[in-house]
Amino acid sequence: MVDDELSVVRFLSRALNEAGYLRVRGFTDPAEVSPYLDSTTPDLVVLDLCMPGKDGFEVLSDISRRLPRDTFLPILMVSGMDDLESKLRAIRAGAKDFLSKPIVAQEFLVHVYSLLDTRFLSLRLNETRSGLQGVVQRETMELRQAHLETLERLGRVAEIRDDVTGQHTNRIGRLSALMAQELHLSQEDVELVLRAAPLHDIGKIAIADKILLKDGIFGPEEREIMQEHVSLGAELLSGGRSEIMQTAEQIALCHHERWDGQGYPQGLAGEDIPLLARIVAVADTFDALTHVRPYKEAWTVPEAIAEIRRERGWQF
Ligand SMILES: [Fe+2]
Repeated sequence: MVDDELSVVRFLSRALNEAGYLRVRGFTDPAEVSPYLDSTTPDLVVLDLCMPGKDGFEVLSDISRRLPRDTFLPILMVSGMDDLESKLRAIRAGAKDFLSKPIVAQEFLVHVYSLLDTRFLSLRLNETRSGLQGVVQRETMELRQAHLETLERLGRVAEIRDDVTGQHTNRIGRLSALMAQELHLSQEDVELVLRAAPLHDIGKIAIADKILLKDGIFGPEEREIMQEHVSLGAELLSGGRSEIMQTAEQIALCHHERWDGQGYPQGLAGEDIPLLARIVAVADTFDALTHVRPYKEAWTVPEAIAEIRRERGWQF
């Protein structure tokens, strides 16, 4: 309660105390209000409009400035001035109600009840809202986690017949994400390629064992069937609504395209090949070179890098 007349502060404080409101703080010097508000948030402010030094409008704008967004703090202005313009100005500055002096205690209390009611209702509303936000946030996170886990497992399906641990698919994701980071792509793209790249060979689940698991070199017909894993994979992933699924489709389709246009299935060349698919192509080759395959030993990292550099402008 802020009023330069001590008698008014005493009168209103007594009225409040008698009505059961015991935590009332009165100020006759408006300059003391700001420091007080640093440590306390009141439920109601009763503010005199005409005071020497700092008038009610200044105190009002001080209080409004300090209030966090979505906070409803009722401010009841009291004044000897009964003109409509001052009332309007006060309401525009953030006051919620207006009482003219001389004040009748009963009338004052009716205003206090109603303003405090609104204040507590608004506090409850904020509490419910932040509770709900927490629930939504938690459920969204769980849903996202479930989505990512499903994608990861789907990626392993592609490799289950020749890489039971799923290590290859995970490595491709991580390696592609590292490259995307090195290329200063956005954090969203880095995250996208990390999640989508492991699905690049998902189409292999539709390739027969006798071809997929064959030890020797492929004949032309077998190679053609093997190459179908890109369009089969893209088809499997097509029509997805999430960005990860759409990126995965693009990567599945384009990760065997070559920079020189000699790749498959579309023979795209250069920058016509989507960038994330080009990144996965490098990661896929690097991983294949540095690990044992039925037909080759594992190359050292420098050897693999040298080979990729040699293919610059051709394959990559
Ligand atoms: Fe592939």
